[in-house]
Amino acid sequence: MPVTIVLGGQWGDEAKGKITDALAAQAHMVVRPNGSSNAGHTVVTDQGVFKFHLIPSGILYPHCTCVIGAGVAVSPPDLLREIEALEARKLPLGRLVLSDRAHIVMPYHPLLDRYEEERRGPAGIGTTRRGNGPAFTDKVARRGIRVADLLEGAERELRAKLEVILPEKNLLLTQLYGAPALDLEQILEQALEWGERLSPYVVAAEELVQDALRQGQHVLVEAAQGCMLDLDYGTYPFVTSSPPTAAGACQGAGIGPTQVDRVIGVFKAYTTRVGAGPFPTELDEATGQLLRERGQEFGTTTGRPRRTGWFDAVAARYAVRLNGMTEIALTKLDVLDPLAAIPVCVGYRIDGREVASPPARLDLLARAQPVYEVLEGWQSDTSQVTSFEELPLAAKRYIERLEELAGAPITMVGVGPARRQILWRTAGALA
Ligand code: GDP
Ligand code: IMO
Ligand code: MG
Repeated sequence: MPVTIVLGGQWGDEAKGKITDALAAQAHMVVRPNGSSNAGHTVVTDQGVFKFHLIPSGILYPHCTCVIGAGVAVSPPDLLREIEALEARKLPLGRLVLSDRAHIVMPYHPLLDRYEEERRGPAGIGTTRRGNGPAFTDKVARRGIRVADLLEGAERELRAKLEVILPEKNLLLTQLYGAPALDLEQILEQALEWGERLSPYVVAAEELVQDALRQGQHVLVEAAQGCMLDLDYGTYPFVTSSPPTAAGACQGAGIGPTQVDRVIGVFKAYTTRVGAGPFPTELDEATGQLLRERGQEFGTTTGRPRRTGWFDAVAARYAVRLNGMTEIALTKLDVLDPLAAIPVCVGYRIDGREVASPPARLDLLARAQPVYEVLEGWQSDTSQVTSFEELPLAAKRYIERLEELAGAPITMVGVGPARRQILWRTAGALA
């Protein structure tokens, strides 16, 4: 069962891109199962810095087939731009394919995302404004447009679909948001042009993935976002609109749960969050700024400063259990290097009572006071360390305490953004 799922254990941006890139050296296929261009996954190699939004982070290996799965909502202009930018760097690349079942982020989706955020004002979600929420809303409401709908010969049916969909969108645009209406002919023409340009990439992705598995190939699934942004288990409604969980990764990639043997949760050695919503371990301005600067915590997709906080072991344990994580990749340990003492949240106190998992009620979570255990810092540079054994004793103790609290072994430790700055506690192999 050579399937490994890589997913975010926190609120996104845990360095899933870097971990996926590292593991992809030994994978045949990397599948993106969820999200849209709301994601931003960074890979740093000797060739430079790469920021992937839709393209899986295995693309820098010519031996990798990279699949954008059925669970993704694809913005064709974003994808085409990303492909062109990557090709312009003239590097050997893997093969990229796109599921014919993936949904399309249509021109009205980013507009509706932005107008709705503006309408909500301070009560907004703080979305990436990539049209993610409206696109997945349409998918669930069974009025989405899929990649297959844009391909040759689909014009008549696409027109018929738009004739049903567009009046509703235009009503919202003009009546609720006071914006101009969209023209059906223009959208149809645009969509068919996208279909033409994307058609060389389009495949029945679930078939390709299952064929690879039947041949005993290693398939990596690179989920976007993080468990605490999940619609069901995250800090609803301050969440994203497609499932970033291991179960969601299976669904979006076309893989059954029995085919998975490793679930790697990626966690930062502290916590960050972009956008609105409760964040129990969030730091005050001064300490928060230190982590933000050392960790370069600015959104990969939007450039927004990320909110920063201490490691939240309550949320981590919850995420480990919900996703059946078999191991943890702990990233950005080096960011904590200068600190003399590092608090870790081991419980929430809500209205005088200590609770062991995040409550469903948002008002309760917003009132949660973190209970901290303070661990000793190591106050030395870990970014040049090349093996786990070489780490300072206090750093090893920090890692060991986190794995105890979270409930899964930490098998990889990130000490810098570069490909080589990973300490493997296991052989590092996918086998
Ligand atoms: P993703 O969305 O989970 O792939 O994460 P992002 O790419 O949005 O954010 C992670 C950021 O941390 C990127 O800028 C990475 O280059 C950087 N990074 C990854 N691992 C490490 C690490 O171990 N240490 C440091 N200092 N930076 C890292
Ligand atoms: P990666 O894959 C961090 C957050 C947004 C907002 C909420 C809803 O790079 O980890 P959306 O645009 O999805 O409707 O926004 O989810 N969000 C992310 N935060 N990393 C991401 O992706 C995110 N994708 C969405 O900031 O709070
Ligand atoms: Mg990111």
